[in-house]
Amino acid sequence: MKAVQAELTIKRIERHGDNLYRVECETERDLPHMAAGQFAHIKVPNRDLRRPICIYDSGKTEVSFIIADVGAGTSAFTAQKAGARFDALLPLGNGFPVLPDVTNVALLGGGTGCAPLLKIAKDNPHLNCTALLGFPCAEAKSVYGDDFEKYCKKVCYCTDDGSLGYHGYPTELLTEIAPDVLYVCGAPGMMRTAQKFCKDRGTVGFASTEQRMGCGVGACLVCSVKVMRDGKERLLRACADGPVFPIEELVL
Ligand SMILES: Cc1cc2nc3c(=O)[nH]c(=O)nc-3n(C[C@H](O)[C@H](O)[C@H](O)COP(=O)(O)OP(=O)(O)OC[C@H]3O[C@@H](n4cnc5c(N)ncnc54)[C@H](O)[C@@H]3O)c2cc1C
Ligand code: FES
Repeated sequence: MKAVQAELTIKRIERHGDNLYRVECETERDLPHMAAGQFAHIKVPNRDLRRPICIYDSGKTEVSFIIADVGAGTSAFTAQKAGARFDALLPLGNGFPVLPDVTNVALLGGGTGCAPLLKIAKDNPHLNCTALLGFPCAEAKSVYGDDFEKYCKKVCYCTDDGSLGYHGYPTELLTEIAPDVLYVCGAPGMMRTAQKFCKDRGTVGFASTEQRMGCGVGACLVCSVKVMRDGKERLLRACADGPVFPIEELVL
């Protein structure tokens, strides 16, 4: 899966709530296959540094993103209208591995951290995926529509304010689901709880890290992630060695 530099056109951009955007893009050339958990490094207007955004969904000539406007770069990007063109390097990073002979998996995500998980279910229809998705409120979930319901065996929405589904954190449902493999992307608290769950029960887990990035291709070391590997603490690059790591290795 060699990365390419592609010029993408925004086909549709939808705002949900205060700061969430669903951005559907197309291009004239065929795009490479993109695995769940890989990301695009996106050029945003009037900024030198690109911004990393995970691949939410993709096809031969289409790719879509879920973006939270949290600062200058994402704000400039999401202010664009349909028809705007931008440059992206994609797909980058390693993506989530799918293990042979395992079907009972859970997708644990929070907010925009749900985005890299959809393609695990979509691209692997043999998996029995249970999605445990956490949001502050029902409005924040709306950016995903019913996409997870299309590809997962079961979807549990969880909200902090109880306005949709389970009133509480999605991590509270892990014991009930008892997955053989857990895929996670979310806030540090969610990652720590998921890591403890995996360690306590001997469950295999993979977590996608969302470090700040510079080059996005392994050259600048801005994105260092501390991991414990082979008994030694090491700094690995989220962009080139990750962003997905075995959850037990992460020093959180
Ligand atoms: C592999 C990867 C995939 C990502 N996928 C998505 C995605 O699908 N959707 C999405 O909305 N965001 C995603 N992010 C986070 C996104 O890259 C940042 O929110 C964005 O770069 C912020 O840029 P900015 O100029 O708008 O904000 P800045 O002005 O640079 O920062 C604004 C705020 O966001 C925080 N921030 C900045 N960079 C990151 C980061 N990398 N991770 C977490 N917080 C950050 C800052 O600490 C600050 O509080 C991803 C990050 C990585 C590394
Ligand atoms: S962002 Fe430069 S090495 Fe990862």
